[in-house]
Amino acid sequence: MSTVMIVGATRGIGLELTKQYSEEGDKVIACARDVSAASQLDKLVASSENIRIEELDIAEASSIESAASRIGKDSIDSIIIVAGYVGGMPENQTIDNIDLDEWHRTLNINTIGPLLVARAFKENLSSSGNGNLMILSSQLAASTWPMGGMYVYSTTKAAVSKVGQILALDWAQDPIIVSIMHPGWVKTDMGGPAAEITAEESASGIRNVLSGLKKEDSGNFYKWNGEIHPW
Ligand SMILES: NC(=O)c1ccc[n+]([C@@H]2O[C@H](COP(=O)([O-])OP(=O)(O)OC[C@H]3O[C@@H](n4cnc5c(N)ncnc54)[C@H](OP(=O)(O)O)[C@@H]3O)[C@@H](O)[C@H]2O)c1
Repeated sequence: MSTVMIVGATRGIGLELTKQYSEEGDKVIACARDVSAASQLDKLVASSENIRIEELDIAEASSIESAASRIGKDSIDSIIIVAGYVGGMPENQTIDNIDLDEWHRTLNINTIGPLLVARAFKENLSSSGNGNLMILSSQLAASTWPMGGMYVYSTTKAAVSKVGQILALDWAQDPIIVSIMHPGWVKTDMGGPAAEITAEESASGIRNVLSGLKKEDSGNFYKWNGEIHPW
């Protein structure tokens, strides 16, 4: 049994990861931006003793620090940073129509927040002796996925992929594996109903990849099906 922290557990892939890990008997610290607006997570918690909800708004440094001080120094085996924001409608992410406030807001959620979470919980991961930090990025972050528009989403995800790669280098001597994950095009609020795979398929693929990672894999960019994603 391990302890897994899911950052962004209220909906979509994060909710499904919480469900699957808790059903496997793992202890899940399920982090929600706003615990009073987490009805699907509340429902899951009602039928599982393995889930504990903590409030953590990844866009707010003070919220990350508060969560870290409530959780304390207990060891955490895996942290999966799922929280993400698309940054507005595609038509509002074009060269001629871009909302700069939205871009800054999205940078806080998608890029800066994950680094602050990594910093705040580093000791928890280290004390597990074999910690995993996984950050959900996107194929849109890759230079091998050229797609026009989507400036806000694509750049903030490209930047967080780089955050993951740098963390892997900076933590090379620590007992922590850092990985970056493209979860697939997934049928969630973000991915929409036309997407290719379900949240169940994505989450079970992510769990499978994470469980097989070794220290020498640190810094790699994966797809949910275990393939290496080109940068
Ligand atoms: N779905 C896809 O096709 C796809 C493809 C590539 C990458 N991804 C990435 O995979 C991750 C999960 O995607 P998804 O499809 O499950 O998205 P989703 O259904 O839109 O859910 C987004 C999750 O992020 C949380 N979140 C947003 N802002 C937050 C904040 N400030 N603090 C804490 N949590 C916050 C949301 O919480 P609230 O309920 O409180 O808003 C929600 O739990 C994202 O990082 C996304 O960019 C998804």
